[in-house]
Amino acid sequence: MKIKSICCIGAGYVGGPTMAVIAKKCPEIKVTVVDINEARIAAWNDKNMDNIPVYEPGLGEVVAEARGRNLFFSTDVDRAIDEADMVFISVNTPTKTYGEGKGQAADLKWIELCARQIARVATTDKIVVEKSTLPVRTASTLKSILDHTGSGVNFQILSNPEFLAEGTAVEDLFAPDRVLIGGGQTEDGKRAIQALVDIYAHWVPKDRILTTNVWSSELSKLTANAFLAQRVSSINALSELCEFTEADINEVSRAIGTDSRIGPKFLKASVGFGGSCFQKDILNLVYISRSYGLNEVADYWEQVIIMNDHQKRRFAKKIIKNLYNTVSGKKITFLGWAFKKDTNDTRESAAIYVADLLLYEQAHISVYDPKVKAEQVYADMDYLNSRSSDENRKYVEIVKDPYEAAKGAHAIALMTEWDEFKTYDWQRIYDNMLKPAHVFDGRNILDKQKLRDIGFQVHAIGSANE
Ligand code: UDX
Ligand code: ADP
Repeated sequence: MKIKSICCIGAGYVGGPTMAVIAKKCPEIKVTVVDINEARIAAWNDKNMDNIPVYEPGLGEVVAEARGRNLFFSTDVDRAIDEADMVFISVNTPTKTYGEGKGQAADLKWIELCARQIARVATTDKIVVEKSTLPVRTASTLKSILDHTGSGVNFQILSNPEFLAEGTAVEDLFAPDRVLIGGGQTEDGKRAIQALVDIYAHWVPKDRILTTNVWSSELSKLTANAFLAQRVSSINALSELCEFTEADINEVSRAIGTDSRIGPKFLKASVGFGGSCFQKDILNLVYISRSYGLNEVADYWEQVIIMNDHQKRRFAKKIIKNLYNTVSGKKITFLGWAFKKDTNDTRESAAIYVADLLLYEQAHISVYDPKVKAEQVYADMDYLNSRSSDENRKYVEIVKDPYEAAKGAHAIALMTEWDEFKTYDWQRIYDNMLKPAHVFDGRNILDKQKLRDIGFQVHAIGSANE
């Protein structure tokens, strides 16, 4: 089966970049990305590539090449579904905020709506591909809805989890470690798997395209993220121990990372991991394990989240303690708001939680981030629901210039590892601040000695406090 037309439902951080790369690499396939969010689609169609809604290095060029040729962004969801041989579902699957499984289980409301919509409009056979991270066995839910509400057309469900990391999405899509495709083990299922393999084979070497059954594929995605998050929580747990001893977490990471069995990646101590996947996926794993009565398995993975929450709280407390146990009325400048560098995504960013804790202590926060817009910072604070949106606007200011943001501040809290922070004129920042001027480096990227020579009080994650 040769795919001529693809529809992707959801034009977000996963759907947008993934489809742009498929369109670039497969010029003979028409790729239409649809979303119910009209503003988002309009932004994807913006002539100025600085305005496309997802910031990713290299993405503007890929979109510019394929858009209008075989890549289209539209709000006409029904039409794109009906035209397509293959439909990717890349809608968001946030953690439930209500009812059974609140705070842990994934909210599958959007997925179900998609499935019902596909079933309603499809007049020809379709391969439906789960791209969003979904809890294990969602594929069977999808199949059940499609088969019971569709008008007799044949649906094959595939799981094709996304392993791209934000900030390096284009690179990851161009040269993935592996592509994973799970599908039914029937003849029809195998044909559907092959159709998707053929798409990736346009640019991915065959030995990097792994195929398996649907459930192994779904569980592999959760497992990969759980393992990565576990490494971050493990190193963060030891960073606290380092702060009370003469050990330095960077040295420990370097030493253990050279063991080829451990490897050097994901060993950077930080103020805590964020992003749309780690926490959500682990919570899913915890929820599924508990629902099978596997309490030890659930507790084991839940500890990764507990450690991460502790790390964020600990960072806020470190700021408060070093500012003489009170931050009331004091200005604290956040450098960075995104959950990591090279992205404008802020979901689950540690900055949000640290800001919240400092606001409880009546601090004033000034935020500078190179790519995050002011409305997003306020939306993140409002979403927490800790205080009114007027209060958020009163006590949190967003500033377009880092030196301006530092004016009159008692402390700088470095929340995101943006490269530009390393190149700043730190003397100028120091001159703008109240004394003693503190830097809390939540990412361990600044040169501590250089800052100390200027006169800063420096507090980094994972080395002894001053
Ligand atoms: C992750 C997975 O890497 C990706 O494969 C999956 O598809 C989606 O989830 P992403 O959330 O984009 O990707 O970012 P990632 O690079 O994994 O970082 C997650 C968080 O961990 C970030 O907040 C990052 O700053 C933090 N982190 C990462 C550390 O604190 N230390 C590290 O050493 C690595
Ligand atoms: P991700 O990081 O998984 O890509 P995003 O939140 O960035 O998540 O993107 C998901 C997109 O899916 C959003 O733009 C949202 O508007 C869109 N979406 C959610 N439900 C539907 C739906 N039923 N039909 C079309 N688009 C949807």
